[in-house]
Amino acid sequence: MELYAPIAADLRAVEEVFDREILSDVAFVNELCERVRSYRGKMLRPALLLLTGQACGKLTPQHRVLAAVVEMVHMATLVHDDVLDVADERRRQPTINATEGNVSAVLLGDYLISHAFHLCSSLDSQRASRLVGQTTNIVCEGELMQNRLRGRLDMTEAQYFDVIRRKTAALTATACELGAAFADAAPPCVQAMRKFGDCAGTAFQIVDDLLDLVGAQEEVGKTLGRDLDLCKPTLPIIHALATATPDAQQALHRLLQVPCEPEHARAVAHHARVREMLDRCGSLEYAWAYARRLVNEAVHCLAGLPVGPARTSLTRMAEFVLQRSY
Ligand code: IPE
Ligand code: IPE
Ligand code: MG
Ligand code: MG
Repeated sequence: MELYAPIAADLRAVEEVFDREILSDVAFVNELCERVRSYRGKMLRPALLLLTGQACGKLTPQHRVLAAVVEMVHMATLVHDDVLDVADERRRQPTINATEGNVSAVLLGDYLISHAFHLCSSLDSQRASRLVGQTTNIVCEGELMQNRLRGRLDMTEAQYFDVIRRKTAALTATACELGAAFADAAPPCVQAMRKFGDCAGTAFQIVDDLLDLVGAQEEVGKTLGRDLDLCKPTLPIIHALATATPDAQQALHRLLQVPCEPEHARAVAHHARVREMLDRCGSLEYAWAYARRLVNEAVHCLAGLPVGPARTSLTRMAEFVLQRSY
């Protein structure tokens, strides 16, 4: 909350824009939307958009609309992601798929993404609409690639980064680009903000993948361990498979191989053995160090901004990526 202090009032206005946009005159659709409205997360992407806007110039009503748009896109991807990952907890609450079923969750995700574009088009800005559309194209590619790479223990680090930059960093980068562009920042500054969002978003997903392995579900507030259950290799696994002794590699292969179906979710003990091996191979530390380097790179991108509360918050948000436990 302290990090959001410079934009607190704007962020509340964003919540209002968001809630108003998804209102429906169909009663049961509205009931579903009520779940979405009561389901606030960290609001990282809108906060990034508003803070980059404020750091680069002046916030406008357009920033609020765009901040609601990026959160709506994010929310749509989460509602769909929980179907794909067969997850039953999100933001400390039951997921939409858990209570309403997969069909309703898929359709509600569609409703949210459709509203995101509907809201964005109210700005009459081709630049914003094209950028948001291009971003959702890339996010979908990232998710498709990740699905294609399921169970592929020969996945390379380059493939991993290609996936996470698309599925996660594309949206944080766009949030920062929009914030700067709509504050009339000069093109090099807009590019620097985009790079900030790309580096911070990439680090964010590395840490998210670490939390999936080593986090405590009570603290993180969402279903964990799904990357292992669904055989999605993440950075520590890729590192261990590439660097461990042949014996350790073989043991890890045995642990990671099918069954991939969530119904056969691996036992807690199984996850613990994988964690132990990753720790022994230095692979967890390797991934943390990677994320730390990216956060440093992100902070470096802020060097040209005027010193002030918005820049300080951006720096601390990048650092928060490494400290977060939820
Ligand atoms: C979760 O994002 C999805 C990922 C990209 C890893 P957040 O952790 O920002 O989710 P909320 O919005 O706070 O719930
Ligand atoms: C991020 O992947 C999902 C999107 C970017 C859409 P995850 O599957 O790791 O996200 P969580 O952990 O469920 O939040
Ligand atoms: Mg997930
Ligand atoms: Mg995750």
